[in-house]
Amino acid sequence: MKTHLTLAAIVAAFSVNTASAQDGAVDFEKQILPVLKESCFKCHEKEHEENGKIKKPKGGLRLDSAAAILKGGKEYPDENVVAGKPDASWLLKTMALPESDDLAMPPEGKGDRVSAANQALIKKWIESGASFGAWKGVE
Ligand code: HEC
Repeated sequence: MKTHLTLAAIVAAFSVNTASAQDGAVDFEKQILPVLKESCFKCHEKEHEENGKIKKPKGGLRLDSAAAILKGGKEYPDENVVAGKPDASWLLKTMALPESDDLAMPPEGKGDRVSAANQALIKKWIESGASFGAWKGVE
């Protein structure tokens, strides 16, 4: 009986290990950057010219570089991504707001909501320290 219990404990410990190994760390460049590109870049890129017009990043917020993501925008400087604190990070909070909210991102009618799965991924990334790896983005 005792042997069986020990064996069960080993099996349990082993499966916990494999689960976390599969889960792994979130890779910003591979898993999160594509989401921001798709849903946010058209309004939150470095100032550039488009069809002869100057396009400035909305709200003063750029999401196309690691430094800019940490710097944040006009209203919430230093609170766009707060490592370890998803609840304090406006990048995630604005995505989670109901579409009708003035600060919901992307703004109502300006693009699809970020999926719950991708929001969960971003939450996990912030919780685990918001590392950008080697990615620096546009200077
Ligand atoms: C169609 C344009 C548009 C898109 C797409 C868009 N935003 Fe915005 N964003 C704005 C505007 C405009 C503001 C300025 C505040 C306002 O007027 O609502 C803003 C402001 C913000 C702010 C507040 C910045 C600050 O500190 O003042 C955050 C955070 C933000 N956006 C995140 C995002 C995220 C994350 C995405 C993608 C999921 C996104 N936005 C997509 C237009 C956009």
